[in-house]
Amino acid sequence: MLHDVTLISTIAIGFVLAFAFGYAAQRFRLPPLVGYALAGIVIGPFTPGFVADPAITGQLAEIGVMLLMFGVGLHFSLADLMAVRRIAVPGAILQIALATLLGIALTHFWGWSLGAGLVLGLSLSVASTVVLLKALEERNAVSTPNGRVAVGWLIVEDLAMVLALVLLPAFAPALGGHVPDDGHGSAHASLLANLGDTAIKVSAFVLIVLFFGPRVMPWLLRQVARTGSRELFTLCVLAVALGIAFGSAKLFDVSFALGAFFAGVVLSESDLSHRAAENSLPLQDAFAVLFFVSVGVLFDPSILINQPGHVAAVVALIILGKALIALGIVAALGYPLHTGLIAAASLAQIGEFSFILAGLGLSYQLLPVEGLSLVLAGALLSITLNPLAFACIDRLDPWLASLGGPRWKALYSEGRGGRFARFQTELETARRLAAEKAAEHKTFSPDELVRQFPLFSSLTAEQRDVLLLHFETRRAQPGEHVIRTGDHADSVYFICSGEVEVIPPRRKDKIKLGAGAFFGEMALLDGGTRSADVIALDYSKFLTLSRRDFLRFLKRYPTLRDPIVALARERGAMNRKFLEDTAEPAAPVTSG
Ligand code: CMP
Repeated sequence: MLHDVTLISTIAIGFVLAFAFGYAAQRFRLPPLVGYALAGIVIGPFTPGFVADPAITGQLAEIGVMLLMFGVGLHFSLADLMAVRRIAVPGAILQIALATLLGIALTHFWGWSLGAGLVLGLSLSVASTVVLLKALEERNAVSTPNGRVAVGWLIVEDLAMVLALVLLPAFAPALGGHVPDDGHGSAHASLLANLGDTAIKVSAFVLIVLFFGPRVMPWLLRQVARTGSRELFTLCVLAVALGIAFGSAKLFDVSFALGAFFAGVVLSESDLSHRAAENSLPLQDAFAVLFFVSVGVLFDPSILINQPGHVAAVVALIILGKALIALGIVAALGYPLHTGLIAAASLAQIGEFSFILAGLGLSYQLLPVEGLSLVLAGALLSITLNPLAFACIDRLDPWLASLGGPRWKALYSEGRGGRFARFQTELETARRLAAEKAAEHKTFSPDELVRQFPLFSSLTAEQRDVLLLHFETRRAQPGEHVIRTGDHADSVYFICSGEVEVIPPRRKDKIKLGAGAFFGEMALLDGGTRSADVIALDYSKFLTLSRRDFLRFLKRYPTLRDPIVALARERGAMNRKFLEDTAEPAAPVTSG
């Protein structure tokens, strides 16, 4: 070949094989994740044939992690977490602690150091959100109370792991690891100094991002949305995700994962966040696939032959140990055993965070290479067996529910003191509030927009998509003055629902406008002040466009400008005529 194409061949062969194996896995009713990792094993150094460059796959994986964490941040909802906090927070923390202890005990038995045991234990203690969401989606159980407990539980685990990732470098020297010297002598500093240093840097980073982020990011997104270029908008989202992740790693020494997570949290504050999520999703998917491929590349299958006992112990810890711990915790907290069973099956696997943590442990020389291979083997096997865990609880559930007397039945499906009922009510409230909030911010899809406003049918779907980025929603109550005659004009209103009454000066008859109509365009077009009062007759919801965006859109899309300008002229003429003929009785007016 004429020039070096290692990166291209790694990505191309990685994608082709990941697709083939992922598809095959799906056909065998296994998560595609397993297929991606198998593709990685095939192009890894331990199997014959094409060998991918591990340095390149490692970096691609890192981008995958950044984008995954960005996605976690983007979907992070404090309200959801609060609704399940009583079970998810103590559950996740206790479970991590107990599973880590179990890992330490196991490796102690193998003669490993405490540091190695801690990293392995932590890696095995955390389940994969990606795998769980896929499992729940397949069972249509994401929004059931038990599904939400499992998801909340995993979010707390993810957050705990983000913390672990941040703290590991600080603790590494004390645990016997080796932190590469960054030239500031931090590798040789004491644990306390390391911790203090990390705490200051992380706090500074979190404060800066949380303080400036919500002020700057939504503004930036809006400015970019104004350019009307979808590709610039996507680029902006990616620049924010990767820029904050990389910048924070350089400036504050925090992990890429933490930086990307906060970039997501910051963008989730913006009302354009759902667009940001949609736009970044394809890239996130693609790089997440490469992440799983790179896991396979690192995996040495010979461990299955050389150390079957170790592999079996790790898999038993993940599937049986963690499931029993989860079940025990849920029961001890007084929640129904039925919920415990779902949590047990949900948590009986490990995934992305385990690899990241084990990889970090390896780079600090805390975890032996064998440890990473064990984590990889444990992940591959537990993810593959996870559907089986769910199938088992499906079998067990009716049998357990039918056992014993009424006391057992209550304990099994309602928990102690009707905890489940209370918890269900809380979830319902959270769901209702979330639904109300979502309805408030709901805009349309490009197609719905045309259904609601035939005016926009002359635009292409992409133009409508861009237009949707610019709308803001406003509401009015019956009797509320939306516009007053003579006021300075700032925006145009498109009525989504409800009804308004337009009252030009000195006119007594009513001009009613309903859903699908618009008003407030006249002053924007002629540069004057408002020509009439507009009062809401019903609870009404509007999509509004600012003066600047409205004028810009009209300039850009003449097919939109002509009907709007024509209607404004017609309305103006109608009002002038009325003023001239005030002596005559007003004719009934129909307008849209
Ligand atoms: P504007 O002048 O910006 O603010 C008041 C709005 O009321 C005006 O734009 C029109 O959108 C609307 N309006 C004024 N006169 C009429 C009319 N005769 N029929 C329907 N709508 C009108």
